[in-house]
Amino acid sequence: MITLALSKGRIFEETMPLLAAAGIEVTEDPEKSRKLILATTRPDVRVVLVRASDVPTYVQYGGADLGVTGSDVLLEHGNQGLYQPLDLRIAACRLSVAVRADYDYASAVKQGSRLRVATKYVGLARDFFASKGVHVDLIKLYGSMELAPLTGLADAIVDLVSTGNTLRANHLVEVERIMDISARLVVNQAALKLKREPIRRIIDAFASAIPGS
Ligand code: ATP
Ligand code: PRP
Repeated sequence: MITLALSKGRIFEETMPLLAAAGIEVTEDPEKSRKLILATTRPDVRVVLVRASDVPTYVQYGGADLGVTGSDVLLEHGNQGLYQPLDLRIAACRLSVAVRADYDYASAVKQGSRLRVATKYVGLARDFFASKGVHVDLIKLYGSMELAPLTGLADAIVDLVSTGNTLRANHLVEVERIMDISARLVVNQAALKLKREPIRRIIDAFASAIPGS
């Protein structure tokens, strides 16, 4: 049995065409069912649904053989024990710093002010501001980061941006792009040895179906 870990939503939806290229279709709709283990048209392949931020943990400890997860999640989690053969170029976005439109970020940085920064990505934010020599107090949040500057919780946020619609809707502006983000295929290293052939075939099929390849 090959177990693939996916998260519901965009990762699941954008992985479906890649699975189809490997001749695999998921036979149940995760939005309509409460099941966490989904069968596929291949009796030897199943999909498990986990939180996006739990995909690396499942693959690292062998709860799943393979997984699809954002490079944001992977970098924040650390790469221990994960083979990362493919940039799938799906779920593309960027990690950025944003502030209220009326907050003078450039002056605050220039004056050496201590910034309060709210984010889910505490590790990535710490590394980024340290590399710029900016002093920050980091506030860990689990979602709705855009609310933090609007309520006075923080001066700035570090969050994902794609179309910019969420920032615009909340009167925030992007002031720094930290890095580009896209989803990666990750593989458990022991599984790669023990189930080499079927896993290789999935990797090759995914590789041939990457958007723009
Ligand atoms: P969790 O449930 O663990 O909190 P989440 O709610 O962030 O995760 P998703 O919103 O489905 O999960 O995001 C999964 C991945 O998709 C992110 O890690 C990121 O790599 C990518 N992503 C997030 N937001 C966007 C976006 N607006 N556009 C494109 N890709 C995105
Ligand atoms: C992500 C991210 C931003 C938004 C950016 O949230 O946390 O809020 O997308 O996308 P945009 O620039 O196209 O507006 P998501 O839609 O995943 O919501 P969630 O994190 O609350 O699940």
